[in-house]
Amino acid sequence: MHILTVSSEAYPYSKTGGLADMVGDLSRHLAKLGHDVRVVLPYYRCTREKNLDTEIHAEDFKVICGDKTVTCRILKFIEESSSVRFYFVDQKGYFDRPELYNENNVDYPDNAERFIFFCNATVQMTKYFDFDVDIIHCHDWQTGLIPALIKTGFSKPSTLKEAKTVFTIHNIGYQGNYAMSNFHLTGLPPDLASTSGLEFYQNMSLIKSGIIFSDFLTTVSPRYASEIQTPELGFGLNSLIKEKRNKLAGILNGIDDSHWNPMTDPFLCCHYGPEDLEEKTNCKKNLQNKMNFPPDPDIPLIGGISRIAHQKGYDMVASVLPGILSNDLQMVILGTGDPQIENQLENISRRCHNFKFIKAFDESLSHQIIAGCDIFMVPSRYEPCGLTQMFALKYGTFPVVHATGGLDDTVKNFDPVTGTGNGVKFTPFSDIEFTSALVKALTLFERDKALWKRVLKNGMLENHSWEHRVIQYHNLYRDMTRNSLPCQNR
Ligand code: ADP
Ligand code: GLC
Repeated sequence: MHILTVSSEAYPYSKTGGLADMVGDLSRHLAKLGHDVRVVLPYYRCTREKNLDTEIHAEDFKVICGDKTVTCRILKFIEESSSVRFYFVDQKGYFDRPELYNENNVDYPDNAERFIFFCNATVQMTKYFDFDVDIIHCHDWQTGLIPALIKTGFSKPSTLKEAKTVFTIHNIGYQGNYAMSNFHLTGLPPDLASTSGLEFYQNMSLIKSGIIFSDFLTTVSPRYASEIQTPELGFGLNSLIKEKRNKLAGILNGIDDSHWNPMTDPFLCCHYGPEDLEEKTNCKKNLQNKMNFPPDPDIPLIGGISRIAHQKGYDMVASVLPGILSNDLQMVILGTGDPQIENQLENISRRCHNFKFIKAFDESLSHQIIAGCDIFMVPSRYEPCGLTQMFALKYGTFPVVHATGGLDDTVKNFDPVTGTGNGVKFTPFSDIEFTSALVKALTLFERDKALWKRVLKNGMLENHSWEHRVIQYHNLYRDMTRNSLPCQNR
């Protein structure tokens, strides 16, 4: 199949979070199955700085955005290792900026215009293709306009005549809601500026466009597919999602075994696998030294890697940390985000010798934390899928998570009687439940080394790889191109 994937980020060309991992990994694994996979991305400054060997696909390309015309270039890059083709939309005014979406926690004021342009550029560039597209897979609000342009736009390139659209919701909390005054840029018929179209509480919602006009919707875990149909986690779109539930599936993300594998990881000082955890102790020692903690293997080391945002629960973590840190344990958190929570964590880091907060986005350190810690926490209020708990499982690091979304789908409570399970999850979301889950993990670590090792091994032997999960997308695309739309929650 000819698959066109459209996203605002993909690893390693641009990344702020798991969306980039998911889009990059899924694309490469689809290509491995033999599909022709092409990915459209903005050409950000961080992408340009990679000095890729690109060729020009379209020069001086005029993109019609409603009543405005914007000129750009389309660059093409073939990734030799995967044979995935990347198309970068190079429009300096919109994308040659220090960050992807915001600076100092303030969104770029023209984000609506930037991504409306990106969607129009994507649709219009397909007229240069010498093949017909079978599937257009759009990710998150930044690409939400595309299904609407394809269904209702004035001029659709002939290469898209047969194309079916899939829209994946990675996080329904981020909706791309902007003033209706931007509608004139969309290129959509004026009657869609209404509640049966893009209007959402007097604004224009780009995620709503994706939800309404795509042929099929997916989200990134089965549990999240149910949760977004509830008022608690639907962020105002729950009724609409419920209405569309017959075209919705929750497909769990995978992880890329070639990038996240403790047996080969180039960021680690030592390598280990499920049959031999010996060298994990050296990874721990290395991390302890790096953090200026005493390199004692018996002191439990807890880690967290996250966007520091309300969604991720780190405000709650900060509030209970002083109590937790009075115990004989060490903790390291790597992340950036909300300045208020960052400040709280920095203050605690200054005061407590056994806690380090590293305010950075650091890939190498993220691998060392996943490998070097004994326990890994993911205390998110909600989590559509979450990748770090799956990295932790693969690296023999015990996950402590809130039982929500993909965390609930991937972590199973350990059972001291049967020796089954791979971690601990808590519910409801509260500081008391979080603390008591941590205590459960710490108690097991200290009191029952045999069971501890068994639970770690259970997690390491599970298969969370994309190799295993990509087939669900393959089947979905195949059914869509055969016009046999799959049913709910496959
Ligand atoms: P989300 O996309 O909601 O932020 P995920 O768990 O899906 O959460 O993905 C987060 C991704 O970003 C993971 O690959 C994680 O390792 C990475 N990440 C998050 N914060 C940092 C950081 N400060 N440094 C390095 N990697 C990070
Ligand atoms: C979003 C979600 C996260 C998910 C990621 C990749 O960022 O918040 O849970 O893992 O997308 O799908």
